[in-house]
Amino acid sequence: FSDFLTDNFNRQHDYLRISLTEKCNLRCMYCMPEEGVPLSPDQTQLTTPEVYLLASVFVAQGVTKIRLTGGEPTVRKDIIDLVRQIGSLRKNGLKEICITTNGVSLHRKLDSMVEAGLTGINLSLDTMDPFQFQLLTRRSGFEAVKRSIKKILEMNKAGAGIKFKINCVVMRGINDREILDFVNMTEDEEVEVRFIEYMPFDGNKWSEGKMVSFKEMLRRIREEHPSLEKVQDHPNDTSKTFRVPGFAGKVGFITSMTHNFCGTCNRLRVTSDGNLKVCLFGNAEVSLRDIIRKSNGGEPIDAAAFQAMRQAAIEAGPGLSASLELPPNEQELLDVIGMAV
Ligand code: GTP
Ligand code: 5AD
Ligand code: SF4
Repeated sequence: FSDFLTDNFNRQHDYLRISLTEKCNLRCMYCMPEEGVPLSPDQTQLTTPEVYLLASVFVAQGVTKIRLTGGEPTVRKDIIDLVRQIGSLRKNGLKEICITTNGVSLHRKLDSMVEAGLTGINLSLDTMDPFQFQLLTRRSGFEAVKRSIKKILEMNKAGAGIKFKINCVVMRGINDREILDFVNMTEDEEVEVRFIEYMPFDGNKWSEGKMVSFKEMLRRIREEHPSLEKVQDHPNDTSKTFRVPGFAGKVGFITSMTHNFCGTCNRLRVTSDGNLKVCLFGNAEVSLRDIIRKSNGGEPIDAAAFQAMRQAAIEAGPGLSASLELPPNEQELLDVIGMAV
């Protein structure tokens, strides 16, 4: 690893998340108000060549996985080109190119994106009930999402090898009665369903009562599937993975609220206007876009970006450092899981 990717906490960041847009074609209750988020002027957003330039600088320094996020990344018109261009970085050591999407327009672009080099899809789906979908996302689109899921599964059956996960944010009284339906989806399909603890975000009317903890979800699944077993996680995974023996897929939990995983976090984030963020919860951001625009894509970018990154790590703020002082309590976790990992 180059120093470029090592932060003040000696964490090596080899996973880069690039947000391609603030825009989204849904309005999930927990994420955005009905009218959407205030959008920054177009010229503040990274252009196609700028996204590619940033990706190539990070890959040259040792980044091996890039995830394209949003907003909703597929609303960008250049999404297929971007996947293709970033895909060309595999010759420089990039191993995975993934996308996090709501799946609404994915089915139309899926073939081209996979052909362009896409290796993984995390699709957000909080309910399997069309009416509930409309309530939660304030938009129609459920059938389109189903079409995308069906298509991914079919492509994988034909050997496409796309790493496929479904993200489900669990909210009490809203979709928690569907937990078992989601688990049962893993019986025949090779998908990892990940239940996410609902998190407070600006203005999403978060209340502790709505959050269903990992511990409770696990208990409820165990009542139906007592044989649920732990699967070894990768060191930097944000999720804890399980499986029902005999089922094709897996079940994971993203425990952002009850067990933080900051100590093993290997992610760097670039916002759609080109700011580098080391931590999801940290407020410190530095503009890589301004560095690129000043250097006209020329040589100084490496050194300048390096400085910017160090600065961001240093300034990451109490959110990050405080959580690093509280590493996940392994014993407590084992007690919750109730078994040796
Ligand atoms: P994988 O590459 O499949 O591990 O994806 P991922 O889980 O990193 O990404 P995804 O976009 O699917 O995000 C799933 C959830 O993880 C979201 O709810 C994110 O908010 C949350 N998440 C991602 N990175 C972090 C992080 O560093 N800290 C915390 N607390 N949550 C994160
Ligand atoms: N709490 C938990 N997860 C959230 N996501 C968006 N907002 C929240 C929140 N407040 C999830 C999306 C998507 C992933 C990238 O983040 O549902 O699956
Ligand atoms: Fe937010 Fe994702 Fe829902 Fe869009 S699909 S509103 S970005 S959570």
